[in-house]
Amino acid sequence: MKVGICGLGTVGSGTFNLILKNNSEIERRIGNQICVAQVGCRRDHPDCDLSDVHVTRDVFDVVRNPDIDIVIEVIGGIDVARALVLEAISNNKHVVTANKALIAEHGQEIMVAASEKGVQVKFEAAVAGGIPIVKAIREGMAANKVEWIIGIINGTSNYILSKMTESGGSLSFVDVLKDAQELGYAEADPTFDVEGIDAAHKLTILSSIAFGAPLRFDAIFTEGITQITSDDIDYAGELGFVIKHLGIARNQGDTIAMRVHPCLVAADHMLAQVKGVMNAVVVGGDAAGPTMYYGAGAGSLPTASAIISDVVDIVRSSGANIVENLGFEKSALISKKVVMVGEVVSRAYLRLIVSDQPGVMARISTILSQHKISIESLIQKNARAGYADVVIITNAILEETLDIAVRKLSTMDDVKNDVKRIRIADFFNV
Ligand code: HSE
Repeated sequence: MKVGICGLGTVGSGTFNLILKNNSEIERRIGNQICVAQVGCRRDHPDCDLSDVHVTRDVFDVVRNPDIDIVIEVIGGIDVARALVLEAISNNKHVVTANKALIAEHGQEIMVAASEKGVQVKFEAAVAGGIPIVKAIREGMAANKVEWIIGIINGTSNYILSKMTESGGSLSFVDVLKDAQELGYAEADPTFDVEGIDAAHKLTILSSIAFGAPLRFDAIFTEGITQITSDDIDYAGELGFVIKHLGIARNQGDTIAMRVHPCLVAADHMLAQVKGVMNAVVVGGDAAGPTMYYGAGAGSLPTASAIISDVVDIVRSSGANIVENLGFEKSALISKKVVMVGEVVSRAYLRLIVSDQPGVMARISTILSQHKISIESLIQKNARAGYADVVIITNAILEETLDIAVRKLSTMDDVKNDVKRIRIADFFNV
């Protein structure tokens, strides 16, 4: 099997170098070395010695090269990557990609094309970098009905929230984002990371392979971390929580619910201990129970490790008639009703800035009780002259009901902000 690499950025260069470094180790596993027959890249990479490789500046040369059996797509982006992958498939090549946006948004079309041609499309590197989470779900959990998935699947958001938490309130979101960009963790345009889109792409893929449902990026409720302030982190800490950005998917009856948003997580929960750029995914199976996977969610070599594991899988299964690219036979994918976020029941953190006047708390309590919302914990701090910060932890309540109460609270004369709401992760009793 000959491999062609399209793209020689951080991930492509790591893949090229890791194949060279560990080829003997890989040969011990599969009986052959991996041969990189061609690399398509706009420019050479300073860390790669390309002297023995056929290099082209046009990535489409790679997918048109009749000698190549497996195309590794690591150019990123959507439009060119889609055209490249579809052409590779149409030329009967297997594809390995790290491109979560491509699989989440165009995976259905790509999988249909691959199955018509009888080639494999593999994407271990698209979710949680070096953690073999796709294989864990597809293979390790194959005997289970997977009931839910909860994960920290965006390293940049986790790094920012962790640093804000560790700084004890001295670092703001903007300060840490700048730091993350300088360290190379966040993209130069960090929108996909901090607005939750990157996590939504990954949750789309995880939900499909875990639940046997079509890829539904459009059905994911998505909220990022840009509105989280140091005060929220401090108040959450006082109440026994840390704030994490989570992807949560649930497979219940004939419905699925998928959402990514910031959450208050109990400080003694395992996910609260996942810090910095690390990722972690917990998968709940009806037989195995909860299983947790932890590791580097990004980076050159961790992502390369995932890519090469897919190449190894393809070599090992060469000749077998594998057409279940999403982990289930294609005729067995079941479209499930999507549960909207308003139908989710959870506790919530509410933060209000109120006038420091007698009777305000009574008026707030009245609105909450009119909607049968009770207060589990409450903090009041006189943060500024004439105003107080009020933080409330509610009981578990239907999100639609809480929305109505939050709108009413936000229009009270005594309340000076749009009431902030952060959901609390109660983790299906895990
Ligand atoms: N930008 C992603 C993250 C890494 O911060 O997790 C690649 O998926």
